[in-house]
Amino acid sequence: MFETLKEQPADKILQLMQLYREDPREDKIDLGVGVYKDATGKTPIMRAVKAAEKKLWEEQDTKAYTGLAGDPAFADAMINLVLSDAVARGNVAAVATPGGTGAVRQAFEMARLANPDVRVFVSDPTWPNHVSILNYLGIEVVSYRYFDGETRGVNFDAMMEDLGKAGPGDLVLLHGCCHNPTGANLNLVQWQAVVDLLNKTGAVPMIDIAYQGFGDGLEQDAAAVRLVASSVPECLIAASCSKNFGVYRERTGLLMAVSADPSKTSLNQGTLAFLNRQNYSFPPDHGARVVTMVLTDPALRADWAAELEEVRNSMLGLRELLASELQRASGSDRFGFIAQHRGMFSRLGASGELVQKLRDEHGIYMVGDSRLNIAGLNKQTVPILADAIIKVGM
Ligand code: LMR
Repeated sequence: MFETLKEQPADKILQLMQLYREDPREDKIDLGVGVYKDATGKTPIMRAVKAAEKKLWEEQDTKAYTGLAGDPAFADAMINLVLSDAVARGNVAAVATPGGTGAVRQAFEMARLANPDVRVFVSDPTWPNHVSILNYLGIEVVSYRYFDGETRGVNFDAMMEDLGKAGPGDLVLLHGCCHNPTGANLNLVQWQAVVDLLNKTGAVPMIDIAYQGFGDGLEQDAAAVRLVASSVPECLIAASCSKNFGVYRERTGLLMAVSADPSKTSLNQGTLAFLNRQNYSFPPDHGARVVTMVLTDPALRADWAAELEEVRNSMLGLRELLASELQRASGSDRFGFIAQHRGMFSRLGASGELVQKLRDEHGIYMVGDSRLNIAGLNKQTVPILADAIIKVGM
């Protein structure tokens, strides 16, 4: 049977991780996969997470199954973190999922259950795995223009024109904050215009929020998702804890289905639990429980929020430093957009050929579409990167 298998397309981001590992150069720089690294190049376990894990080890007395939806306390804590009081709890169905990717996958499956002919509108570009999962599920993908290669900001008029083509029964995938891979984001006035358009066309929004707290702050980064959830009849929200709690390998995420009509919540909840049962039965618990402990213990929560702020500010500092080093190296302001972008990533807007040159000649690894992970830099490597960018002719 296995002889009929075909090679599957490699994931560009994971392939790059492998290439980097195999590169023997000692001064190589990894700006590929979206993992936070501190100034020493480590991905630390956050203080509050470590403290919660210790407490959990001491206090946990069973590993028996939780519910299909995961521990309800995790859903409550995460709904509160993402949505605050924008939507009443009774309007939200939610299940724990294996990471943000698990939530994304289940969201697509729920949309397909509701409408077998669903089309999913995705930004051009978007996280490559969005498209890969949709292709795998056989769901039609329609891309809408998003990134402006000239300004490196959002081409909002083109985006609105393309989103105008989505209608009832379609899903429109939006990044809640810190757009991956570009770093270019909508402002709240633009978000309101998107909401108005969706309410006119009847298309259903799906928000992927994987970097809350990495852009402008925990509350600010959730403003768009709160606006959408409180303004449309229905929406799906896939939230990840991988980055903002640093629990990447624990696979911790939440999928929310929000309905303005609370009588729909029980059917939505049953559907989400059913999907969990079909795909993996019970969602992983360790990361979810630790996140719940952090969010519900005032001291741990305050410490976590403070450390997340340190992480966010260090990335902002690196952005500003890189923009100014590039100004020095290029003698122009054409890289000023790096300081305007938010989140872990910026897309430089350079060709794959130049990205390859950067890797071959300077040992600097970024994704082929010229996405760089700001958190992969430190004060020493910023000027090296700036000089290399100019040397290869970006
Ligand atoms: C990324 O975009 O680098 C991260 O979301 C990690 C991943 O799984 O691709």
